[in-house]
Amino acid sequence: MPVISFISPKGGVGKTTAATLLATQLARKARVIIIDADPNRPIAAWSQLKGCPDNISIVSDANQENILDKIEEAHATAPFVVVDCEGTASLTVAYAIGASDLVVVPTQGSQLDAKQAAKALSLIKNTERQSRRPIPHFVLLTRTNPVIKPRTLTSIHEQLRDHGVNLFHTQMHEREAFKAMFSFGGTLETLDRAQVNNIDKAILNARDFASEVVDILKAAQNGAGEGAHPSTTSAPMASSKVA
Ligand SMILES: Nc1ncnc2c1ncn2[C@@H]1O[C@H](COP(=O)(O)OP(=O)(O)OP(=O)(O)O)[C@@H](O)[C@H]1O
Ligand SMILES: [Mg+2]
Repeated sequence: MPVISFISPKGGVGKTTAATLLATQLARKARVIIIDADPNRPIAAWSQLKGCPDNISIVSDANQENILDKIEEAHATAPFVVVDCEGTASLTVAYAIGASDLVVVPTQGSQLDAKQAAKALSLIKNTERQSRRPIPHFVLLTRTNPVIKPRTLTSIHEQLRDHGVNLFHTQMHEREAFKAMFSFGGTLETLDRAQVNNIDKAILNARDFASEVVDILKAAQNGAGEGAHPSTTSAPMASSKVA
């Protein structure tokens, strides 16, 4: 079943946040296994707090030696597998890319961040060459302002598009609720409205992201081309079935 990995050599760009949001939204309808492949185990720590949904299982002992086994086992048993990688360009990350049906590259909207995203994209390209198969991959803009679109962000958007990079239409906005989930545990839906602002907007944002991921996986399953966005293209590719 589809394996979705979150990678970026840059630390702190929102990989763990976006991976957990995706997993918790998918888990509303299906079982999800999260492989916490970051040696700091941030998602395993979140799952120890109260309110982790019953149909999310966490694999918290993944490392360079066993990551492929862990992904294979999860892939055989759960409708969705989400892999959260550490913020470096390690062999573990390369293995995760090679075993993925979709690679998400979160990046913040600065020129320096975009350069780091370019490194991630080049790692994906090399893995594609090595495995002789296209690996669908999309850049996800994170921590963006939901109201103001700064010029830098517009310019990065254009640069990425000019280089043929696929961008998620959805951006993960800067939201207090996304941080709060890691402080209080549980999901956006179980956060206390008296303690956290704008939960509904955060939920909408996370659901938009999850449905875009599902659409991309479905398009790939139905034979869309490498990195094709379901709303813009319909060429051939991909292997696994979407639940
Ligand atoms: N969309 C967002 N809105 C608000 N805060 C965010 C958002 N995305 C990330 N953050 C915050 O930014 C910090 C880094 O996020 P996160 O841990 O998800 O990044 P990461 O890429 O997984 O980092 P690392 O490379 O260290 O694993 C955290 O404090 C997190 O709460
Ligand atoms: Mg992380």
